[in-house]
Parts: sequence; structure tokens; C-alpha cells
Amino acid sequence: MTQRKSQFSRRSVLTMVGAGAGVAAAASAFPTRFAIGQQAKVKIGTLLPYSGTYTRLGEAITNAMELAFAQAGGKLGGRDIELVKVDSEAKPPKAAELTNKLINQEKVDFIVGPVHSGVAMAMAKIAGEEGTMMVVPNAGANQVTGPFCAPNIFRTSFSNWQPGFPMGKVLAEEGKKKVVLCYWDYGAGKQSAQGFKDGFAPGGGTIVKEIGIPFPKVEFQAALTEIASINPDAVYVFFAGGGAVKFVKDWAAAGLKDKIELVGPGFLTEGVTKAQGAAAEGIRTTLHYADTLDLPTNHAFRDAYQKAYGKPADVYAVQGYDAGQLIRAGLDAVGGDVGARDNMVKAMETAAIDSPRGQWTMSKAHNPVQNFYLRQVKNGANEVVKLAVENLTDPATGCKM
Ligand code: BEZ
Repeated sequence: MTQRKSQFSRRSVLTMVGAGAGVAAAASAFPTRFAIGQQAKVKIGTLLPYSGTYTRLGEAITNAMELAFAQAGGKLGGRDIELVKVDSEAKPPKAAELTNKLINQEKVDFIVGPVHSGVAMAMAKIAGEEGTMMVVPNAGANQVTGPFCAPNIFRTSFSNWQPGFPMGKVLAEEGKKKVVLCYWDYGAGKQSAQGFKDGFAPGGGTIVKEIGIPFPKVEFQAALTEIASINPDAVYVFFAGGGAVKFVKDWAAAGLKDKIELVGPGFLTEGVTKAQGAAAEGIRTTLHYADTLDLPTNHAFRDAYQKAYGKPADVYAVQGYDAGQLIRAGLDAVGGDVGARDNMVKAMETAAIDSPRGQWTMSKAHNPVQNFYLRQVKNGANEVVKLAVENLTDPATGCKM
């Protein structure tokens, strides 16, 4: 397993152990299990893509979570932090083995990840069985906060259904009738497409064609030729990271940019507008974040992220930052005692996260209830056009919590 470890202690490990031992000795000649445990670092394992088409997503999440921890003074619930970073490669077949290693060999207190919905399915199943605290900072698999929902599993991002629904609603309200769907043919693409349909169909719209592309392939030419021949009112697509860069550039190169409207969930233009260049200009998407959200927390976050990492923040960074804040809320509430599970979970369920995206709350199924914005790319920024749906809750079908 490709693995990197990093520490957040402001002091040396030796100093930390000495100070902790002193506290324990003063409290009792026979320190309790928690007093001993408290001396150890809180161990957080990430299972995120650090290679492949979703690399920039995994890196943004990790960077911003580390930023949240640094802003907490490098401590959670009074304990220093150790991060164990593992590359998921966004490959579902590897997910079970890597998750088991983090939980059973590394014995992490929290597991954070993934980006890819297929990886999330394996992780959530194991975390649910083992009872390990899990925070999902991106993957939208509806099942995670549906049938797989559990007290120890939280998500700070979205369900795949969520960003699709508002785009369908927007196009229906604009009177669009004929739409083609084109997406990476795995859980995220299909569920995103379903969200779009649920918003679009009640307004009388029809899906005239669905085109699936195997993940992570980026050969789009046949799909573009077919779309051009259909000539629909709009095309809704699900691609992200490197795939989104290629699709948007191929779309423009095929001469479709000024002929057919291209829309999608915001992943189509998140964190990639620089690489997409002029091809991205004018594209409309829906998402729970926009670069230009005029909120003090968003401005402060974007400034801090830019300063720390030398590049602009995006939605993946926001979700990672909020994952860090959520873990902090849980651990601070119990003074770092991960054994105080019920109180930690309660604190995470009710945490008032000061998010760059604005206020959001945790649903009963542990998925964000949040605003979705219609955005448009202008001069490389995803600008807010309007609020598309306020406080959108995922249906959480199948969750028994
Ligand atoms: C997913 O697989 O759930 C996903 C990946 C990238 C962006 C959004 C969702």
C-alpha cells in the first residue's frame, strides 16, 4: 500500500510523551485506560486518490483538511494528530484491502475518504461492520447515507442525486424539452443522471438518449458525433477531474460549444477551469458551492488556502475542510476520548460547521442538507448565478437510522 505519514504535533514526540506521562502520574498512580490513550496521537487514515484522473480532487481534500487541523493548533480534543495517507487510485477492486489495512493494521481512529463512489461502497460496508468512525469528504454514492447509513458514518459532501436534481429543475423551468445524458458509467454517473431526471421530468422534459462511457476512459469522439446528430436542447454530463478537462476541451474542439448547451453537476468545472481554458467559459452547472459565494468564511478560507498551497480552493477543498472541522467538533466535545462514542457522534450530528459554502446541517442519515446554486464560468471562476434549490435534503432511501 502506497502510504505517507505526517504529524501535526507542535512539539517533539518525546516532549509530548513526557508531558502526557506527567499529567497521568499526577492524576493517579494507576492511570486509567483513557489517560494512557490520551497521550497517543489521534490517528486519521485517508483513503483518497493521489494518482489517476481524480488526483487533484484527493489532493485538494487532503490539503484543506490539513489546513483545518493547522487552524485548530495542530490538536484535536487536546491530542496531537497523525495522518496516514493511502492512495486509493480511485480503483474499487483495491478498496476493501486498503480499508482493512487502515482499520486493522494501522488501527486508525477515523477513516477519511473516498472520492470515488465505487470505493465508498466497499469502505462504508467495512466501516459499518467494524464500527470505525468514517467521514466521506466527496464520494456521493447514495447508498452511503441510504441503506449503508450508520451512526459512525458521516458525509460532508453530497449524495450523487443532490447536484443533479437542481440542474434538471432549472432546465425544466427554462422550457427545455429534449436532453441527452452522457456520463461515466458507474454509480456516480448513473445516480447523478437520475437526480437530473427527477428534477427535469415533472416539467415535461424527455431524455432522448443516455450515453455511458466506461470509467476512467476519455475517448469521447463517438459520443460527441452521436450528440451532434441528435441535436438536443441540452446535454447533461457527469465527468470530473482529468476527465472533465478532456470532455470540455473535446466538446469545444468538436464545434459544439455554440450549438448545444452543455450542463452538468458542478464537478464538470470544479478545480479545472484553468486547464480547460476558453472551452470552459459560459458553462452552467449546479453545485453546493461557488467560488464567488460572498460569505466572510468563504473569503477567509479561499485566502488561507491560496496562501498555503499557491492555488485557488474548490469544492473538494471545501468538503475536506469541513471534514476536518467535523472531526474536530467530535473530538473536542469528548476531550479526545474516542471511546466516548455516543457523545462524539452526538456532537458531530449537531455541529455548527462554519463552512465556506455557508450554513448546512447534518440530516438524520448523516448527509448535508444544503443550498444548491446555479453557477456559470466567467473568466475562469465558477460564479453564482442564483440559488437553485434551498436546503436540499437527499431522500436517503433505505436508511433505517
Ligand atoms: C463519485 O464517484 O462519487 C464522484 C467522483 C467525483 C466527483 C463527484 C462524485
